[in-house]
Amino acid sequence: MGAGITEVFAKAGFEVHAVDNNEAALDRGRSIIAKSTGRAVSRGRMTEEEQAALVGRITYFTDPAEAVAGCGLVVEAVFEDLDLKQEIFKKIDVAAPEDAILATNTSSLAITAIAAAVSKPERVVGVHFFNPAPVQTLVEVVRTVYTDDAIVEQLVKLLKELGKSPVVVNDRAGFIVNALLIPYIGSAINLYENGFATREEIDATMVEAAGYPMGPLALADMIGNDVCLAVLEKLYDETKNRVNAPAPILTRLVIANMQGRKTGKGFYTYVDGKPSEDRGPIRRPMQSRKAELPDRLVGEYLNNCVKMVEENYASVDAVNTGMAEGCRMPKPFEVLKEITPKRVLEIVEGIYAETGEPGHRPARLLRQLAAADDQAAAIDELQASTAELHASNPRG
Ligand code: CAA
Repeated sequence: MGAGITEVFAKAGFEVHAVDNNEAALDRGRSIIAKSTGRAVSRGRMTEEEQAALVGRITYFTDPAEAVAGCGLVVEAVFEDLDLKQEIFKKIDVAAPEDAILATNTSSLAITAIAAAVSKPERVVGVHFFNPAPVQTLVEVVRTVYTDDAIVEQLVKLLKELGKSPVVVNDRAGFIVNALLIPYIGSAINLYENGFATREEIDATMVEAAGYPMGPLALADMIGNDVCLAVLEKLYDETKNRVNAPAPILTRLVIANMQGRKTGKGFYTYVDGKPSEDRGPIRRPMQSRKAELPDRLVGEYLNNCVKMVEENYASVDAVNTGMAEGCRMPKPFEVLKEITPKRVLEIVEGIYAETGEPGHRPARLLRQLAAADDQAAAIDELQASTAELHASNPRG
């Protein structure tokens, strides 16, 4: 993520100081940027001169204090370890200019806990980018109870200048996108482990039937199984919703350091960056239930989208933008309109009846939408009213 974020800022013309532990780690970052910009050149999206200028705007450091001196914005993107992040923030709090914005790109940790480690927590904010950062336009800007509103405004303006679509949210486990995407991935992993279908069937079905850009198990490998596990654990801790409990196979892959693409093995084994045809970590199912997958996974996911709006955390527009611009998935409330709330309610009632899990209970708001005479108009109304509410009362 660090390399991707560096590329995004350097592409927009900013001088960027990239920092990592040692020269080997910096070399890895350099090669990720060279590969990503090389691909843009080969596809005619960037000239060789622009690529050289972009690369020339990046200076590499191994000392964080030296790297952040004189910077206006610091974006930390180390792995998901609160102690480590707090330690880094204490260092940059002293070394960065007093008026610098201090941002963290955490996927799962509470921004508030990171902010609490510094002398001026009001200048700490979350900037959550999506993989691959040069491609996905969404950035979640996460404010805490400490954060100064002026800093949020400044950051939103800057991100728009970079061509990104910032969505401002409060600090809650998973924010918008991970709270919706990772439980969907977690459910797919559970179904895989419980013998619903093979990994290939699960991935192909979700691409073909649901129109998602990639299947959930391939996506877990791309995000990193360690990151997926960390997000599920934080969601579980915060919600105590057993549906968010990670599947045993996910924890085992993480223990075995099979984190996906970055370690060469996860749900798939990667040879030259491509998944190979090995047998996979779970044996083939006795009887495939792949035909049930799209209803089951999409139904549960749409119910969670509706719950998030019902809980007053995000507007319909923010959920739509989040999933479309963070993950290139179809806008969930448009899919809901197409399938109809009534049909989604039937599906979710079926899942709830089968599992008995309170986390699978249909949202009250889903029932209301399903009962409307004109269900599409009811979704439009919800979209308009939540847009107005969230704009006029941003602190929610
Ligand atoms: N770096 C830079 N650019 C990349 C890239 C990378 N790693 N991978 C792909 N691209 C670019 C390509 O150059 C291409 O650009 P053009 O269309 O302008 O030529 C474009 O992305 C599409 O790439 P491809 O044609 O090679 O492949 P594709 O169409 O199959 O798309 C994908 C690949 C972009 C990864 C797409 O499958 C996708 O969007 N998948 C969903 C990814 C997703 O959900 N991301 C969010 C995960 S959650 C997260 O990151 C947050 C967290 O905290 C866990």
